[in-house]
Amino acid sequence: MSVRTIGVVMNGVTGRMGYRQHLVRSVLAINEQGGVALSDGSRVTLKPVLVGRNADKLADIAKKHEISAFTTDLDAALSDDANLIYFDAQVTSARVKAVLKAIEAGKHIYAEKPTAESTQEAIALAEAAAAKGVKNGVVQDKLFLPGLLKLKRLIDGGFFGRILSVRGEFGYWVFEGDWQEAQRPSWNYRAEDGGGIVLDMFPHWHYVMENLFGRVQSVYAKAVTHIPSRVDEQGNTYQATADDAAYGIFELEGGIIAQINSSWAVRVNRDELVEFQVDGTHGSAVAGLRKCRVQHRSVTPKPVWNPDLPATARFRDDWQEVPDNAEFDNGFKVQWENFIRHVLEDAPFPNDFASGARGVQLAELGLRSNAEGRRIEVPEL
Ligand SMILES: NC(=O)c1ccc[n+]([C@@H]2O[C@H](COP(=O)([O-])OP(=O)(O)OC[C@H]3O[C@@H](n4cnc5c(N)ncnc54)[C@H](O)[C@@H]3O)[C@@H](O)[C@H]2O)c1
Repeated sequence: MSVRTIGVVMNGVTGRMGYRQHLVRSVLAINEQGGVALSDGSRVTLKPVLVGRNADKLADIAKKHEISAFTTDLDAALSDDANLIYFDAQVTSARVKAVLKAIEAGKHIYAEKPTAESTQEAIALAEAAAAKGVKNGVVQDKLFLPGLLKLKRLIDGGFFGRILSVRGEFGYWVFEGDWQEAQRPSWNYRAEDGGGIVLDMFPHWHYVMENLFGRVQSVYAKAVTHIPSRVDEQGNTYQATADDAAYGIFELEGGIIAQINSSWAVRVNRDELVEFQVDGTHGSAVAGLRKCRVQHRSVTPKPVWNPDLPATARFRDDWQEVPDNAEFDNGFKVQWENFIRHVLEDAPFPNDFASGARGVQLAELGLRSNAEGRRIEVPEL
């Protein structure tokens, strides 16, 4: 069996996502399993070339994982023909410049979401990649979560009848940093640094809605900054200039109404950090990251509104667990494998820069809806 190795330039590996999900749990995990299997039976392993601003931090990671290549010189990494792919998990505000450079160098590009801070820039990236003829992909990890894969299976199997509505609840309490350390980086709370929950989460909600339910036709969003000041990684108090909660209503093709709350200032009283309830004429489902529960019309109870009597029914007991019926691998890794196959043997990869741009567009229009206090139509890109 033949095994070849390709170089992958990885920028932003000292960050939360770059290190854990992409380097350790995807690229290194792929090598540990013997590489990515191609359709001709051969395998491909990945040689990560770590790029970042701080040589010491890169050296630590390289040493810990026995990685031979790291540099603070992006140009040098891009000039090496052995490096076929450029991956970017930097802070969002640093993405466009580096990705354009990598496109110019003829690399295939895989990037975290959002691909850019504005629709115009996100479209420019998609156009630049197309003009140069390089493959391009954006991380759309939620599509590969077991809970959402089960939901997709239900949709494909016709479980819901006509889907009427979707209600998404996402969020958890992100500590302010004063008496307990914040569990997210401080740039997330500064608009000038590419922060904000709309820019962070609407791209996710966009590809979830588009892939599972249909095109997003309009958005109404109320974005707020509930916690006005926080304490950063150095212990300094700073003003939160970006939204930390967003309450959105989206109209989808087919008349489906989706309402999604996103908040870093909410305490969790749910089974999972994100849950979507989907109601259809024939059945309903509640899907989280891993689990999915359903209630079919045939077993739907008939509650009668009577506030004078205590509730005796245990409504959540009337739902049934959807079985796994499959093994679910880490979604980040699965998407990496798909992208490698896309680059090397032209396997389909729908999560491209064009779809990434539609996600950025929804975030931008969500912010405009908030600023103007009105519902905004989403033009087709
Ligand atoms: N797919 C997902 O579920 C998901 C989740 C969280 C974040 N993200 C995205 O991943 C990207 C990174 O987010 P993160 O949470 O890992 O952030 P992080 O702050 O932990 O890491 C940011 C990385 O960018 C680097 N960087 C480059 N230029 C920088 C600059 N000028 N200032 C600060 N850091 C700079 C840092 O060194 C670090 O390696 C963001 O674009 C974010 O939207 C995606």
